[in-house]
Amino acid sequence: MSREQTETMMESQVNPEDVLLEVKGLKKHFPIRGGFLRRVVGQVKAVDGIDFYVKKGETLGLVGESGCGKSTTGRTIIRLYDPTEGEVIFNDPDMGQVHIEELDSKGLRKVRQNMQMIFQDPFSSLDPRMTVGRIIGEPLLINGVAKGRRLRERVAELLTVVGLRPDHASRYPHAFSGGQRQRIGIARALALNPKFLICDEPVSALDVSVQAQVLNLLEDLQTQFDLTYLFIAHDLSVVEHISDRVAVMYVGYLVEMAPVERLYYNPKMPYTEALLASIPKPDPRNRARPVRLPGDVPSPANPPSGCYFHPRCQYAQDICKVERPPLRLVGPDHWAACHFADELNLKGVPRLGESAVLRTPSAASTIQVRGRRVTSEQTGDGEARTEQPQQPPRPPQQ
Ligand SMILES: Nc1ncnc2c1ncn2[C@@H]1O[C@H](COP(=O)(O)OP(=O)(O)O)[C@@H](O)[C@H]1O
Ligand code: SF4
Ligand SMILES: [Mg+2]
Repeated sequence: MSREQTETMMESQVNPEDVLLEVKGLKKHFPIRGGFLRRVVGQVKAVDGIDFYVKKGETLGLVGESGCGKSTTGRTIIRLYDPTEGEVIFNDPDMGQVHIEELDSKGLRKVRQNMQMIFQDPFSSLDPRMTVGRIIGEPLLINGVAKGRRLRERVAELLTVVGLRPDHASRYPHAFSGGQRQRIGIARALALNPKFLICDEPVSALDVSVQAQVLNLLEDLQTQFDLTYLFIAHDLSVVEHISDRVAVMYVGYLVEMAPVERLYYNPKMPYTEALLASIPKPDPRNRARPVRLPGDVPSPANPPSGCYFHPRCQYAQDICKVERPPLRLVGPDHWAACHFADELNLKGVPRLGESAVLRTPSAASTIQVRGRRVTSEQTGDGEARTEQPQQPPRPPQQ
């Protein structure tokens, strides 16, 4: 099946007016240089032709083992990387339909008011020399949205929204725990009232108990501010609760994509089945051990022939070694790239439920955001807060 056919079929599954982001044939290759003259000797095909859409107000989970191209996908969508090929079409609430891959720096700055990214590592993603107030306020200053008293008020408002206190603005990132730092990153991402957030493994670096609270916060923020998420994770248990649909990635390709209930309970691609089997079971009555996926993710610089999953697939047949299966429709809004998707009876998992997301007692506060009154649920981190601001490693640069 050609990519055009896949595209047309995708369009048949969704009303174009409901789509916020559409990705068509996206590729991002990194050159490998070698030898004395640093000539290009190969390509890391980190993302190698993917098609998907994200509907307004939904969360699309993007899942796969480390190194399969998830972060590169997120970074290329928001143009931290220039795509090698393909289109990224964003229905910007202010600018209308824009092709991100064609924007100049001025257009990019404008579109990034509505499209932001939250990064995995809350320790390296915040500048240690800047106060929290400056970190959060910077996008507002750069875009000329607020300054002076209005800026301080907005920063205080954003800190409250993410469950921190306005007086935290004068502290430095090192005075905060991992969960709190991730909240600061979220506050910064929200500063310009974006519509779309790319969350790149926002809880992977955090303790399990703190993960749940940050996930809850992201869910609450989505409801409050009408946000749409592309939520990246390497673990299917993290995205089940927060996602409406899930896309599974393997060595630069999408291999399955479906609404949550279909993908988890009725997977159609053996890689998804293997990922599901590797989830630790939350129910102590179900003592079945998680099954470790055999083998490693192949290098995107030198992938196997045919179906890239064939060296690890227990169902592989001769055709799998020579012919790569296209991503095709196998059920309502259910896509899978497997020659035998219609024949195999793969094992899903029972509903994982709320196991990953523990609700904590919370205090409700009401604040003014976007000119309307909204209720913000403030969750604690379950981590000790440093009450005294510590000395920064270096004084802030004014
Ligand atoms: N800037 C880069 N230069 C060269 N190779 C890269 C770069 N970024 C990522 N890669 C490679 O691209 C592949 C996909 O990486 P990444 O998108 O970070 O995967 P994931 O987020 O799924 O773990 C990996 O093989 C990685 O080594
Ligand atoms: S195409 Fe073949 S190797 Fe690939 S997932 Fe399906 S059965 Fe396994
Ligand atoms: Mg990554």
